[in-house]
Amino acid sequence: MATECLCAEEFGKIDAIVCRIGTDPDSLIEILHAVQEEVGYLPQHVQEYVAEKMDLPVGTVEGVITFYSFFTTVPRGRHTIRVCQGTACYVRGGKRVLELVSKSAGIGVGETTDDRRFSLEIVRCIGACGLAPVMTVDGDVFDRVKSTRVADILDHYK
Ligand code: FES
Repeated sequence: MATECLCAEEFGKIDAIVCRIGTDPDSLIEILHAVQEEVGYLPQHVQEYVAEKMDLPVGTVEGVITFYSFFTTVPRGRHTIRVCQGTACYVRGGKRVLELVSKSAGIGVGETTDDRRFSLEIVRCIGACGLAPVMTVDGDVFDRVKSTRVADILDHYK
């Protein structure tokens, strides 16, 4: 895969974040959060730049990104769908909900639609087991999701 280049604007954003937070290795997670917020995701060239700015091995940055699921190395959609696959949701139809969401959006777990409308993830429990099966879109929670509601739910997010 060809290495992508950061535009000057992105370099500037990362520089400003590192300047604001500092280069203490203990600040790496905070910096990666802020960079992901600004750039949208953390591809290889961004990881390399952050590593260089913080004087850390690239492997250290990669390791943190790999370990924490909230970091992503691929572009995210405008809306993030999360379908719960924890035990309570799974046994109450969560598997079917996931299949339908995947089919409706046309993407698998961990993928983003070509038009960047949706990204699809699974979660293992959001603490709403009594309302299973549960899915979320961005900050909105949908409980007791029935198969027939899936298309309607997604239709609200453009
Ligand atoms: S298992 Fe889905 S909310 Fe707990």
